[in-house]
Amino acid sequence: MKVVCIGAGYVGSVTGTALAANGHQTTVVDIDPDKIDRLNRGESPIYEPGMDTLVPELIGKSLFATSSYDPVADAEVVFIAVGTPSGADGSADLRYIKATAEQIGKRLSSDHFTVIAMKSTVPVGTAELVTTLLAETSGLTAETHFTVVSNPEFLREGYALEDVFFPDRIVIGSVHPQGLQQMRQLYQSFISREGYERLTPHFTFTYDLNAPRANYFETDTKSAELIKYASNAFLAVKISYINELARLCEVIGGNVQDIAAGMGLDSRIGHKFLQVSSGWSGSCFPKDTSEILSTSEKYGSELMVVKAAVESNERMHMYVVEKLIRRLKSLNGKRIGILGLSFKPNTDDARKTQASFIIDKLLERGALVQVHDPQGMGMFRALNPDLPIEYCHDPIQTGRLADAVVLLTHWQEYREIDWQKLASLMRQPYVLDTRNFLNPNEIQKAKIHYEGMGVSE
Ligand code: NAD
Ligand code: UGA
Repeated sequence: MKVVCIGAGYVGSVTGTALAANGHQTTVVDIDPDKIDRLNRGESPIYEPGMDTLVPELIGKSLFATSSYDPVADAEVVFIAVGTPSGADGSADLRYIKATAEQIGKRLSSDHFTVIAMKSTVPVGTAELVTTLLAETSGLTAETHFTVVSNPEFLREGYALEDVFFPDRIVIGSVHPQGLQQMRQLYQSFISREGYERLTPHFTFTYDLNAPRANYFETDTKSAELIKYASNAFLAVKISYINELARLCEVIGGNVQDIAAGMGLDSRIGHKFLQVSSGWSGSCFPKDTSEILSTSEKYGSELMVVKAAVESNERMHMYVVEKLIRRLKSLNGKRIGILGLSFKPNTDDARKTQASFIIDKLLERGALVQVHDPQGMGMFRALNPDLPIEYCHDPIQTGRLADAVVLLTHWQEYREIDWQKLASLMRQPYVLDTRNFLNPNEIQKAKIHYEGMGVSE
């Protein structure tokens, strides 16, 4: 099929690449010329494992990239995958969606039926809004010449290609027969995995091709829009819950890792998303919980559980600072090393990360901060240009004259740190591991005081 994907960010570039790999003639469109140039040079516009091998393989064959919206005129399916950040009032800011709709509307053709598929995470009612905008700008009749379907994306950064090629579910919100039919045709290859043998050499992950197929779930548009927010908020609640249990364990005893393992053995609960942390963060959970809270409040039906999870999460970020104060007494003049600025490993995405919250609080208390991240330093620096912190090009350097080193993001390479060497640089050998990720024995062997989360001292 002929497909256009508007937005070459984490969702758009990965979706476009996966569609192209599945044989669809796909054009990715972005207003950012740098992202388009990178794609056309055969490079990934974002850091995401596997993209570096797939993009050069496909570009110019089934994958195309341009700043022009003109390919929309011939497309059978146009995905919208532009950003929907939080606005000033906490609800989703739809300015990029509206700008995109206007550009698509100008190119829609009456020669053939076009499906506009909303991949961006958008509030309930956005498909209706976009339908109106498209009808106004195109002069065409909605549901006769085009339809807007909701097709929320559930990929995780760091595992984006894996999630797109092997999704648990594909959700389509539409009641339009041709809209539904074109989406089924588009996703057929993802469900049948036809041609996946050809692709497997390019996967950076292993996967059993005979594993259960994606659930293909069709519903009305508003339900599909809400499934996305409901899912993200539910996952955020689950993490906040285990993080609260971690705090409880530290005062009454017990080990949160064992508690998570024991809880997860119940198949109704499951093991996933029970990993303790300094709180969830990133470009998605904070803005999506904020949007669903804002909308639910506006309609007088507040999601109280989600509100509590958001408050609890901020408390968890702060708890890390409190743990440091408990250990170091005062933070004034203390030097703190931070391992990890991205909100999770295997991504360069440093938008709205727990690191920025925690670093702010440390600086407010007079600490000196030195940081490292394998991929996230560029974006973190660009987003926080005025932060008076030192960027280290080697994780060991975060220990230089430090009173504490805090692991915030569990990058695999932090397991390989030479702790003896790091200890020799530190003023006070102390490591706070907010993910219970490091090997305490190795660290203690280097005569460093190790502290994890959710275990009473
Ligand atoms: P992103 O910021 O990485 O990418 C958005 C892209 O859209 C940017 O490259 C930007 O230049 C481009 N853009 C903005 N306005 C444009 C316009 N008028 N025309 C063409 N391009 C335009 O964002 P993202 O992380 O890919 O997220 C996109 C959407 O998908 C959001 O709604 C997000 O909530 C949702 N989502 C994200 C993820 C994720 O893991 N990042 C997962 C699922 C869903
Ligand atoms: C999340 C969802 O998992 C995706 O399904 C969704 O598509 C995406 O948001 C989105 O809508 O954008 P992502 O933000 O990439 O994906 O990352 P997650 O793996 O969900 O992690 C989110 C945050 O929770 C991270 O800070 C992570 O470290 C934290 N987390 C996750 C924990 O603290 N503990 C856990 O057990 C799991």
